[in-house]
Amino acid sequence: MIVTTKKLFEAAYGKYAIGAYNINNLEQTMGLFRGNLDSKSPFIIQISKGARSYTHKLMLEGLIFSAEKVFPEAVFAVHLDHGDEETCYDCINSGFYSSVMIDASHESFEKNVEITKRVVDAAHAKGLVVEAELGQLGGVEEHVKVDEANAKLTDPKQAKEFVKLTGVDSLACAIGTSHGAFKFSGSQGLHFDVLAQIQKEIPGTPLVMHGSSSVPQEEVERINAAGGELKGAKGVDADQFKRAAELGVTKINIDTDGRLVWTRVHREFFRDKPAEFDLRPIGKVFMTEYAKFIADKNVKLGSAGHLDEVRKLVS
Ligand code: G3H
Ligand code: 13P
Ligand code: ZN
Repeated sequence: MIVTTKKLFEAAYGKYAIGAYNINNLEQTMGLFRGNLDSKSPFIIQISKGARSYTHKLMLEGLIFSAEKVFPEAVFAVHLDHGDEETCYDCINSGFYSSVMIDASHESFEKNVEITKRVVDAAHAKGLVVEAELGQLGGVEEHVKVDEANAKLTDPKQAKEFVKLTGVDSLACAIGTSHGAFKFSGSQGLHFDVLAQIQKEIPGTPLVMHGSSSVPQEEVERINAAGGELKGAKGVDADQFKRAAELGVTKINIDTDGRLVWTRVHREFFRDKPAEFDLRPIGKVFMTEYAKFIADKNVKLGSAGHLDEVRKLVS
């Protein structure tokens, strides 16, 4: 059942976080649905601009449309990840997405407000919900002075103003994470102090944490042992998800960790079976491993086991 992220957030706010997972192809889609059902978890499917153009935007819609039939027990939202204004309107008008993210975080505060407000008005008119971003992810390096580093984090007072001016449904905040496999050069981590201040300013507004892959060291070591070269990869400590959820983080975005599973499975498979050239045996291994990864992640997010209760709430 496709639902809006708003419905999922109402069920989860302050208690646990919903996993938002990016998909690009069939094998990821199958593994994603299986893993969420295995762990009895509601979830969010994210589609980035890059994913929409990897094959064709309609191919992903077709995969999700079929998955909904193959897995009728699943409860999930379909969300545009990091959209620009034009892509948001395309998704809003497609009739397929249940929410969009407008990412104008690179613009000035005023321009971000202006663009976000336009998208919010268009989305709300069609019953979709909107995520926007304030602050800038990444680049918070150890050598950067505290003031400079904090300047990139979301300003709690601005967050309050932003939500009031735009009417946005959820807010992606910069609290120390970054996208990709190389998040921290040293001992940096999440800025819980900033998160707590943001929640105080906008209590009840679901917060979103991008760049939340954990980059498990065991995964990185296996990739490197099978010929990879990922040196110094480091991610977010998964033990911190529940604390973040208690402070209002209701959606946690994970893409890189899934890519690492894909890389480990493929490198090890062809290292161990150099004579293999059939795409289905490796595809099956990947779907199984991806499902396991999703189920484990949902336990860490706290969403595992909540599927039946959420289904009752949204039906
Ligand atoms: O935040 C970005 C996501 O990881 C999606 O990545 O734009 O390469 O599909 P992508
Ligand atoms: P990761 O790169 O940490 O997986 O973050 C993904 C993300 O934020 C997608 O929007
Ligand atoms: Zn992101």
